[in-house]
Amino acid sequence: MGVLKRYGAQLPISNKTPDVNLEEGSTPLVRLDRIGNDLGVELWAKLEGCNPSGSFKDRGMVLAVAKALEDGARALVCASTGNTSASAAAYAAHVGVPCYVLLPSGKVAMGKLAQALIYGAKVIAVDGNFDQALELAREAAERLDFAMVNSVNQYRLISQKTGAWEICESLGRAPDLHVIPVGNAGNISAYWAGYKDFRAWRKISGLPRMIGFQAEGAAPLATGRPFPNPETIATAIRIGNPVSGELAKNAVSESGGEFGTVSDDEILEAQVILAGKGGVFAEPASCATLAGLIKLKRANRLPDGAKVVIVLTGNGLKDPDTALSQVGKPVRIGSSIGELLEALSL
Ligand code: F0G
Repeated sequence: MGVLKRYGAQLPISNKTPDVNLEEGSTPLVRLDRIGNDLGVELWAKLEGCNPSGSFKDRGMVLAVAKALEDGARALVCASTGNTSASAAAYAAHVGVPCYVLLPSGKVAMGKLAQALIYGAKVIAVDGNFDQALELAREAAERLDFAMVNSVNQYRLISQKTGAWEICESLGRAPDLHVIPVGNAGNISAYWAGYKDFRAWRKISGLPRMIGFQAEGAAPLATGRPFPNPETIATAIRIGNPVSGELAKNAVSESGGEFGTVSDDEILEAQVILAGKGGVFAEPASCATLAGLIKLKRANRLPDGAKVVIVLTGNGLKDPDTALSQVGKPVRIGSSIGELLEALSL
């Protein structure tokens, strides 16, 4: 059941809203005991990479696109570090509207670029970073009366709250810590609003502490200073001037949480651990969560036995180049059993 069907009663839709559905949402919440035991916590991972276009963006995109259709939009436009463009392009193809995506040239993972192109979006590579592309997209949307489907679109964040609702339904309560990567800062804000909804509906009593991790080279919220030239291997969160920064700061301070930073090396180390000890392949930005938890554990700042949810925002298959740079090569043999047995006894 897609998000609009599962949560229609809680979302701002009416009988005039088209029924858009790629069966997004309802993603697995998986307990990762091998990694959790090492950290001394009860660790859960929300596998947002299992959404139809492989990232959490689909949760919000489905409502943004349904509303754009309801309002008679001529086309969709967005700027993106990759996943928003893949998601917008998928929904645009599904409902049959044109889609224009602006990407920072040369800084988008290969899988995401392939997605935007194969779904049939018009892809525009901007000689500049994401923040600059976003400004351009905003201005174009205004001038041409296109629907802007970045998270400045209120429907994106409203519908992304469903991630928190699902977690609360699965666990029967809110986690103690909610750990999430932060780029443009919409998702952390949406999750916080979602947890507060669930408490207001009296379906849970407590709220989690919201912990947001940024890459060291793109950490405006964690450091309090702007990053005019953000740089990180986690290209999804290579953002220097987050649009929802104020909302995110509010989520962190209201919840008693914090922002932290992780280095590219720590992100890559966490990616290998998640795959090798969790059986979950997540893209680098998503792995900032586990990298951050490991850092907190090393600093003795991770409460023993806490119920922790990490949001693995995107699928590892989107960025195979980065993963391959971290691992060995296959063992090569001829076609004889002797060689195979030798290889197996290594
Ligand atoms: N993780 C992934 C995999 C992302 O693609 C993004 C953002 C984030 C985390 C951060 O979420 O922006 O709500 O704080 N990607 C956007 C994009 C910017 O264009 O795909 P946020």
